[in-house]
Amino acid sequence: MDLKNLLYIVENNIATITINRPDKLNALNHETLLELDSVIERIKSDEKVYVVIITGAGEKAFVAGADIVELSELDSKKAIEFSQFGQSIFDKIENMNKPVIAAVNGFALGGGCELALACHIRLSSDKARFGQPEVNLGIIPGYGGTQRLARQINKGRAFEYILTGDMIPSNDAFRIGLVNRVYASDELMPKAIEMAQKIISKGSFAVSASLKAINAVHQLSLEEGLKLEAKLFGECCDTEEFKEGTAAFLEKRKPDFRK
Ligand code: COA
Repeated sequence: MDLKNLLYIVENNIATITINRPDKLNALNHETLLELDSVIERIKSDEKVYVVIITGAGEKAFVAGADIVELSELDSKKAIEFSQFGQSIFDKIENMNKPVIAAVNGFALGGGCELALACHIRLSSDKARFGQPEVNLGIIPGYGGTQRLARQINKGRAFEYILTGDMIPSNDAFRIGLVNRVYASDELMPKAIEMAQKIISKGSFAVSASLKAINAVHQLSLEEGLKLEAKLFGECCDTEEFKEGTAAFLEKRKPDFRK
């Protein structure tokens, strides 16, 4: 795969995607989004990949938003396509059958905050700053921010951050539930890898069933969601991983889900 704007490595069943335009604070231009889309498609069917980590190159930014040079050229028709294209890629991330961890190492603004919101787990450096500053450009978030921010934090806070465009320091992001954990910058990637390894040691069917069930929370009624949970719970009990997990507990040993 020929990648100009991303670094992509798979090591020990962890795929790491690094958005790599540090001189533009990793802003997402069209070419970068196309590359991200193709890497995601590849990950979906790569049996060697169990967990994905997304981060940004350089010290300063995770992703400082959609590329404002490209944005400035949009008319209303192109803008709808632009928005739907980004939304479709972030949907693929959210609905991926493998966990995706955002390791947010710096500015996560606009499309960067939206990319982090599409990931299942957000780990943050203490230097990171989040925000949806689109209102400063005379637009609204277009890659899912109005929907995912309001669902992730709460509607009142989403109104505040989207209407003011204010940046959210990492400690506030933690306090309001926007990120799961905050680490010193040099600990961020080791901690992301540690979390990925912990998830990898679990049964992969149960991991992907958990993603499916939790993702349904905003799509289904409680009744339908509980039905889905019971169905997936049943499917888990048909797996070798279930036999191994329960046998290991009863035999007082650690389960080995990879044998
Ligand atoms: N799109 C395109 N280029 C961007 C960008 C974006 N979203 N964000 C930063 N850049 C570019 C800058 O234009 C600059 O390029 P240059 O060196 O060729 O002039 C380079 O990245 C460095 O950015 P700079 O603004 O000089 O860094 P800073 O430390 O002074 O400020 C920010 C950092 C994040 C506060 C500032 O870059 C910013 O506000 N970016 C836009 C954030 C935004 O509105 N995102 C939402 C877009 S929808």
